[in-house]
Amino acid sequence: MRRLLLIGIGAGDPEHLTIQAIAALNQVDVFFVLDKGGVKDDLSRLRRAICERYIRVPGYRVVEARDPVRDPRIASYPERVAAWHAERAAIFERLLAGELGDDGCGAFLVWGEPSLYDSTLRIVDQVAARNNVAFSCEIVPGISSIQVLAAKHKVALNRIGGAVHITTGRRLAAGLREDLDDVVVMLDGELAFKTLDGEAFEIYWGAYLGTERELLVSGKLSEVAGQIESLRTVARAQHGWIMDTYLLRRTSAKAAARAAPALTGPRG
Ligand SMILES: C[S@@+](CC[C@H](N)C(=O)[O-])C[C@H]1O[C@@H](n2cnc3c(N)ncnc32)[C@H](O)[C@@H]1O
Repeated sequence: MRRLLLIGIGAGDPEHLTIQAIAALNQVDVFFVLDKGGVKDDLSRLRRAICERYIRVPGYRVVEARDPVRDPRIASYPERVAAWHAERAAIFERLLAGELGDDGCGAFLVWGEPSLYDSTLRIVDQVAARNNVAFSCEIVPGISSIQVLAAKHKVALNRIGGAVHITTGRRLAAGLREDLDDVVVMLDGELAFKTLDGEAFEIYWGAYLGTERELLVSGKLSEVAGQIESLRTVARAQHGWIMDTYLLRRTSAKAAARAAPALTGPRG
């Protein structure tokens, strides 16, 4: 049966690859690449560099397909994304059926960790549900940008026994529940942290994490928000794209009190 591997490749540093990921790379006959056009050239370069550096078995192929664009005429965001996923599922199916032999092994190299804000797994589920091509699927976990952010800032994501909330810029801009104290924000093109009370949070921000262009800023939100905004604008203009992630930490006495019971609970 055809095999499909979704291999997490980390968030920008080729040394993020796990030994399991390297072993998986060496089993692949065909790498599938969805070409997003122009701006993501740097990311394609990194994927190529990873293959050249780690693959010791010659003869693999790379097959590119044009990534469909989201249809701006569909007003509802969930419907627009659903239509886009359906188009991508049809492309995946065509790649699996047309480019792999019956016992062939294909792979997508997935940015960061495949289970985190990445649609590849959901699309593969759709392809399986369509039942037009038989295949098995395996996932190789990767280092996510969140782990890199925490490591670079030398900060733990949670307080002792506390919860961590992971969300998007879009959702943050719609409002943050009062009892969410430690919040990781991804996919924020609009600087949603500007909607918050800057006196009430610390921020740990990182862009291009794990790459030579890495940028890190941390501090009281009110004091560093402007610096992050201007760094972001300059870097985006210079490189044509930016990926950034940040941890927000509520500093109020209430937030500290919410964390405190964990300190006195049965496990200390
Ligand atoms: C489509 S999501 C993919 C997340 C990925 N699966 C992961 O595990 O990190 C893209 C978002 O991840 C974050 N991201 C990914 N790579 C990053 C990097 N090298 N530096 C900073 N943020 C990154 C950004 O918030 C970006 O908008």
